[in-house]
Amino acid sequence: MSIRAAVPALSSPVRARAAAAVAGASVAASTSARALSSTAAAPAQASAPVKAAASASAARPTTPRTLASLSMANKVCVVTGAGRGLGNLMARTLVESGASDIVIIDLKRDDAAAAAAELAASFVSQGLAAEGEITALGIGCNVADEESVRAAFSEIEQRFGRVDALVTAAGIVENFKAFDYPTDKIRKLLDVNVMGTWHCALEAAKLMPNGGSITMIGSMSGSIVNTPQPQTPYNFSKAAVRHMARSLAVEWATQNIRVNCISPGYMLTNLTKVILDNDPVLRDQWLSKIPVGRMGDPSDLAGAVAYLASDASKYTTGAELTVDGGYTCV
Ligand SMILES: NC(=O)c1ccc[n+]([C@@H]2O[C@H](COP(=O)([O-])OP(=O)(O)OC[C@H]3O[C@@H](n4cnc5c(N)ncnc54)[C@H](O)[C@@H]3O)[C@@H](O)[C@H]2O)c1
Repeated sequence: MSIRAAVPALSSPVRARAAAAVAGASVAASTSARALSSTAAAPAQASAPVKAAASASAARPTTPRTLASLSMANKVCVVTGAGRGLGNLMARTLVESGASDIVIIDLKRDDAAAAAAELAASFVSQGLAAEGEITALGIGCNVADEESVRAAFSEIEQRFGRVDALVTAAGIVENFKAFDYPTDKIRKLLDVNVMGTWHCALEAAKLMPNGGSITMIGSMSGSIVNTPQPQTPYNFSKAAVRHMARSLAVEWATQNIRVNCISPGYMLTNLTKVILDNDPVLRDQWLSKIPVGRMGDPSDLAGAVAYLASDASKYTTGAELTVDGGYTCV
């Protein structure tokens, strides 16, 4: 398979450059002043409880607070398949949650390097990180190839010394009816989805001497059969990922390495958008089966990733977090 010939190619770390200043405090102060003056001018006919609540919230200080254990600060994070799609969103989520060391693994070196550069630059340009604060490393690696994965994690070890959180989002899907599915394509799918997850989990765990978090991206297709698309090998590959997470969770529990699985439902990525825009019948079929009545937005997965990658989930291992708008409930 030509895909196996991919050579690990490593990009230089990308250091964010532009300076940034966060003006949140002054915005909060002026908002607060506006709220106070509008409370003072509140109409006399407003009911007493409403008036009391309004003035209490206007007077209340607005110190930003969030659960400290959700922070990814000082953690080295690695996301596979992060050149685009859900993996890319997940890498951004970890940085948004405080991580300053992020590794983007994807099949092609140039794609990984470009995604890393873009991620770091976007945080700086939005004023969410200062120049040089984020180290984003893009690594070209075929997760289906054990040697390629070893080389990638060796580079991570040299650069950062350890891994604190791994998210395995690299995955592929193809649709063939069972009798039409070429065996070599099934093997390739299993090599990427199952063995790719396996190789990355093992190499990351070796770099977690004090424990860490591994989040495997499965799919709701690992526990239900979604229709009408014929994709039996994809479904059983994701069932394997789901059970791999549970099995490694038990095996590594005493080493403080937690292994969990996120199983997304139908997410609206650039790829699925093109498919559904060209096939309104399929789109309506899918939508009719989702209780919340819409496809998932990739950002709907952010909370699940932040929770499972962080210390907020330190007693959660072997769990599957299904994020599917209720699809698998009916
Ligand atoms: N999009 C959805 O609706 C959905 C739903 C459930 C689960 N998932 C799962 O989420 C994950 C991401 O899906 P997506 O929709 O973002 O897909 P995508 O195709 O947009 O992105 C997958 C990324 O993985 C990379 N990749 C593929 N093979 C690789 C390999 N051998 N080595 C390294 N990188 C490789 C690709 O280059 C790409 O950047 C997959 O595991 C998929 O099965 C997606």
